[in-house]
Amino acid sequence: MDLLMATTTQTTRPTPTPALDVYRVREDFPILTVRVHGRPLVYLDNAATSQKPRQVIEAIDHYYRDANSNIHRGLHALSEQATSQYEAARDKVRRFLNADSGNQIIFTRGTTESINLVAQSYARPRLRSGDEVLITHMEHHSNIVPWQIVCEQTGAELRVAPIDERGDLLTDEFERLLTERTKVVSVSHVSNALGTINPVKKLVRLAHQAGAVVLIDGAQAVPHVPVDVRELEADFYAFSSHKLYGPTGVGVLYGRAALLEAMPPYQGGGDMIKSVTFEKTTYNELPYKFEAGTPNIAGGIGLGAAIDYVGRIGLDRIAAWENELLEYGTQALAAVPGLRLIGTAQNKAAVLSFVLDCAHPHDIGTILDRQGIAIRTGHHCAQPVMDRFDVPATARASFAMYNTKEEIDLLVRGIEKVKEVFA
Ligand SMILES: Cc1ncc(COP(=O)(O)O)c(C=O)c1O
Repeated sequence: MDLLMATTTQTTRPTPTPALDVYRVREDFPILTVRVHGRPLVYLDNAATSQKPRQVIEAIDHYYRDANSNIHRGLHALSEQATSQYEAARDKVRRFLNADSGNQIIFTRGTTESINLVAQSYARPRLRSGDEVLITHMEHHSNIVPWQIVCEQTGAELRVAPIDERGDLLTDEFERLLTERTKVVSVSHVSNALGTINPVKKLVRLAHQAGAVVLIDGAQAVPHVPVDVRELEADFYAFSSHKLYGPTGVGVLYGRAALLEAMPPYQGGGDMIKSVTFEKTTYNELPYKFEAGTPNIAGGIGLGAAIDYVGRIGLDRIAAWENELLEYGTQALAAVPGLRLIGTAQNKAAVLSFVLDCAHPHDIGTILDRQGIAIRTGHHCAQPVMDRFDVPATARASFAMYNTKEEIDLLVRGIEKVKEVFA
């Protein structure tokens, strides 16, 4: 791991943080050596899910080989070992988000489940007819539909803050939509379809001034920007392990302790109870009150390993490299005649959504795939964003710490090939 950083030349000035050595990082990701259709894989679908370093794969493998057992309930050695690894992972998440206590870290299946948990367990008992939930036009379906469901259940209304041509949130409009009726605000930290990084600290402050509780959907943020929930003053923060180099099937809901304490359980079952009789069940304390049933133990441990991995490399280095890729990729794609970038916000994560005047995004994706280049095409679970930009779909290249400028060159060459086919 110490070899991760590229050597820097000696200068008289203080040495800046050494840059990330992308070729060394790539060695940690076994899948990057596979060939697709006879070509080396160029994986540019990281906003959908990122690849896993061997450190994460080995942590999961180690758990199943040497410690597999159910947690919390067993007194035997394996159960204690599994429990301590799982709870250690919770503490890693706590530190990663700078939360006060592990009690505020609920393991879920992912961002989607975390948002549904808040919608059903926080919002549903509180919302009344005439209340409002405020989201933005750039949300992922996972941050739209749970609110539509709870609005239908309670008679509350869903309001949507608009975005501009670049994909930036119109914060004045957001502010205008905040009234005493607004009870919940739920916004993405980073948009998956556009890459826009929202000014979430400011949005939280505005929402709090209006008396609303705020959930931040951090699914696309945590792999790219350091998150400090205390500094953000977020009430809830949700993310998925699989976009952070961890396994699928596990994610996190952070919540302010007072809110979590006051919320009823989301699901009933094992582990979330203190005692059960047919007459009355008392619920377990935080965080277990929200963790019914046997959890994804290996997933939690894998997420802990992913956080260790990201921490060893450093999110600052990762962000610096991804910003370089974003700048290089933006220039390269913008120079392609007939290509229109969708999402050109000032403050962006490394996501490049685009359309070509001569080919449907699905055709772009298929032709690139034949060259071993994996991008995503479609509405990216953000159909309202497609409507806003008046496109049926986009092609989306999204970068992770292991991507290179050479891969962006291959993407551009691949797009040129698409244009030849459809000329
Ligand atoms: C911004 C955003 N929110 C929520 C989700 C849902 O995440 P998951 O499917 O892991 O629950 C995604 C997934 O792409 C996303 O990008």
